[in-house]
Amino acid sequence: MSRCLTTVWKKWFGKTDNGSKLYAGLDPVRVPRHVAIIMDGNGRWAQKRGLPRPFGHRAGAEALRAIVRTAAELGVGVLTTYAFSTENWKRPAEEVDLLMKLFSDYLDNEIDELGANGIRLRFSGQTDALSPGLRAKIAQAEATTAANGGLVLNIAVNYGGRAEITRAVRLIAADVASGALAPGDIDEATISRHMYTAGLPDPDLLIRPAGDQRLSNFLLWQAAYAEFWFTDINWPDFRPEHLIAAVADFQRRDRRFGGLTR
Ligand code: IPE
Ligand code: IPE
Ligand code: MG
Repeated sequence: MSRCLTTVWKKWFGKTDNGSKLYAGLDPVRVPRHVAIIMDGNGRWAQKRGLPRPFGHRAGAEALRAIVRTAAELGVGVLTTYAFSTENWKRPAEEVDLLMKLFSDYLDNEIDELGANGIRLRFSGQTDALSPGLRAKIAQAEATTAANGGLVLNIAVNYGGRAEITRAVRLIAADVASGALAPGDIDEATISRHMYTAGLPDPDLLIRPAGDQRLSNFLLWQAAYAEFWFTDINWPDFRPEHLIAAVADFQRRDRRFGGLTR
């Protein structure tokens, strides 16, 4: 499939059985069930334009809107977006405050439209450490969209893969200590069930814009067999055609999971 991806993007047609839009050139049967995105490069986007970093964060929040819509149209089941890591607290307080404000504004501004489009909000991370106001908005967003059956938008906020694994180990240890669980009964499914992402499929496709090719503590457990897709484009410039290009690339990959293809 060597088709120009811009053409692919422009020429969507029809609807699939599940009601999602279908984009020409993409195989509707092999749409990734779970796409994860490290929304990186906001600061560099602003810097390139001679603007302060907050402008990049605002533009990044804006870019997310179209990507959520496109993921839903494609029939992706889960979209996990990395919004704030457990390490991002190292940044200057003003930047952290702004990121929290943008997050709060995002929930205020988007919740109605997300809900109307059948999207279910979910959050992964140590949300307990966020401000009470933000925690209340998170709880409300989860509650008001809980019955929706469309795309799950899983926002990773104050998320760290190692912190998540540490938490899971503690929870499992507590079950062992109480006698509810025998050590010999702990298997991979037990661990998955104790992750923030419990019940969600593992990511099939993991996208990182802005040129760096690392996980930065994202989905360490879940990304065991994720296909990686990197681009130099900074997150605020990431558009639906880039998501479609990533999915098209994903569909050309040979996922062997340690076995043999045929
Ligand atoms: C991603 O953009 C947003 C967060 C990490 C919260 P950055 O702020 O990391 O942008 P760069 O990497 O400095 O360009
Ligand atoms: C990863 O980006 C975290 C988010 C995008 C939320 P960072 O900018 O924090 O990652 P590093 O520091 O370049 O590894
Ligand atoms: Mg960064």
